[in-house]
Amino acid sequence: MSEALEKEGVALGFDRFENIRSLILLMTLRCNLKCKMCGQVSFFGEDPEKRMFIKEEIRFEDLKRVLDERPSWESLHLFGGEPMTYRFIGPLMELARERAQVVWMTTNGTIIGPHLDSMIRNLSGLTVSIDSSNPDENDASRGVIGTTERILKNFRALAAVRKPFAPVVVINSVITHHNYHALEKSLMFFETEFSNGFDMIQFHLPRFVQDSLGQEHEKFMMQEFGCHAKTWEGWRGHGEGIDLEILQNQINKVKDHPKVIIYGIDKADQLQGFFKNPKFPSINGLYPPEAHCKVMDKVLTIQPNGNVVLCTDFPDYVLGNIYQESLRDIWNNEPMRRLRLYLRKHTFFPICAKCPRAVESMHLSMGAGLKVADRFYKSMRQRKHVPGVLARSSS
Ligand SMILES: C[S@@+](CC[C@H](N)C(=O)[O-])C[C@H]1O[C@@H](n2cnc3c(N)ncnc32)[C@H](O)[C@@H]1O
Ligand code: SF4
Repeated sequence: MSEALEKEGVALGFDRFENIRSLILLMTLRCNLKCKMCGQVSFFGEDPEKRMFIKEEIRFEDLKRVLDERPSWESLHLFGGEPMTYRFIGPLMELARERAQVVWMTTNGTIIGPHLDSMIRNLSGLTVSIDSSNPDENDASRGVIGTTERILKNFRALAAVRKPFAPVVVINSVITHHNYHALEKSLMFFETEFSNGFDMIQFHLPRFVQDSLGQEHEKFMMQEFGCHAKTWEGWRGHGEGIDLEILQNQINKVKDHPKVIIYGIDKADQLQGFFKNPKFPSINGLYPPEAHCKVMDKVLTIQPNGNVVLCTDFPDYVLGNIYQESLRDIWNNEPMRRLRLYLRKHTFFPICAKCPRAVESMHLSMGAGLKVADRFYKSMRQRKHVPGVLARSSS
């Protein structure tokens, strides 16, 4: 393509297919747990009690066809629902490793079954969701008695065979009323019991949406994109039951530990704002004014029904469907160009106030993100993966 044509394309909202940095694959929404704070439990109208029986999942052959659209992908993230309940998780891990420089999985850690070797061999990174080392607190948060015992058993098996950073193992703890007072205890427990089992522990501010913000988001999406935006209802809440003084104290105690990441804001006045003010951003102060959500700009999520969406957590704006179109076509279709042009003029959507995920795109250059990046590159070098664009930006 000539330079002039390329410029004209950019002005009209087109983008190169090769610019996609990551695909997030929600192979299924099936899940064996019933986490109280998980917006997915209700945002597709599913009854949490029946969630384990959801049949819908991405057809493996179609997923393969999508991955074939590029010779290689920078990063694939295996997600869910619970990814380990996907019927083709074994073949998918093998395929992902063949096709991508970075393969990440986020799992609730209760199901490993026969896949431990494959996880070690094929994954660059594994996020294991454990909210607390205290079984009562963690089981309460995860909605199923016995969860903690199962995770710890699997975690022991993983710790026994994996090498540091191979794969990178991140414990993800969502801060809720069940655990906010015990971040330090969890850190100490994992450091003492599983020091070799994990590389980082991430204390993640909870995603929750107060009604006034949700309604503003709905109105905005309808006006701007003609889109019914109801998925915020899954995250409806107020972050209630958290004593912010105690939480702040806990954050201060853990945040300088070399393995700790506080995902979102961590200062006293900001925490107050985040929990009390519906529109106070979880990423306050981290962005330069001209920034916009790089996740929406460079990352696509594929849902179990084949829909392609921009935002994993608020998947209201559907771009297309992999069963009907190629991903390449979707990347420059009318809804995508419309969004791209919007993002050039404006920064975030109202709902982004509650999303610390957008910070991911800044990991290469900012604060806590540097910890992730450092360890990540170290692991990639050790495993002789050389992530293309990521590696260039790190040098
Ligand atoms: C939706 S789950 C899907 C993957 C897998 N089932 C798991 O639990 O790891 C992805 C991550 O979101 C986290 N999560 C759930 N509800 C959340 C909330 N309200 N705020 C922030 N993170 C949340 C989970 O703990 C998990 O680490
Ligand atoms: S957070 Fe993960 S494990 Fe918990 S209900 Fe949601 S999808 Fe399932």
